[in-house]
Amino acid sequence: MKGAQMRRVLMLSIAASLVVSGWGCGCGSARRGAPVAGPFDDSQPHIARGKKVFEENCSQCHPGGEAGLGPAINNKPLPGFLIKFQVRKGIGAMPSFPNEHISDSELDDLVSYLKALRRH
Ligand code: HEC
Repeated sequence: MKGAQMRRVLMLSIAASLVVSGWGCGCGSARRGAPVAGPFDDSQPHIARGKKVFEENCSQCHPGGEAGLGPAINNKPLPGFLIKFQVRKGIGAMPSFPNEHISDSELDDLVSYLKALRRH
């Protein structure tokens, strides 16, 4: 097999495993044994911190994760890395948030918060 062909096969299998592992499902938490329904739980410190980061930086355009100036982000199974990419790069009309503004650990918490939000 030629190199280019090999690469395509590789890319395809990566894409396929992405679809299987998260995209088609949006229930990544089930693996961790977290409850799927029930009251919104922001007692976990990282979720509470993510919520704060969200309220300070995102909610003016995505109020409570709903559509505002920006589209709703609580209604689709966006994988974490895409949320991070959007926040860091600011695709389209959305501003970008560099590391000095939202640290990597704050961004992790933000993604946890958004995933928790999505289950409610
Ligand atoms: C100034 C307004 C504004 C702020 C602040 C903002 N966004 Fe956005 N956001 C947008 C707009 C507008 C889009 C649509 C971008 C496009 O595709 O043109 C968007 C798109 C997105 C998307 C992709 C949605 C999709 O359907 O693919 C995600 C995820 C997202 N924003 C998350 C965030 C997070 C997290 C924050 C806070 C760190 C944030 N946004 C702050 C305006 C904003």
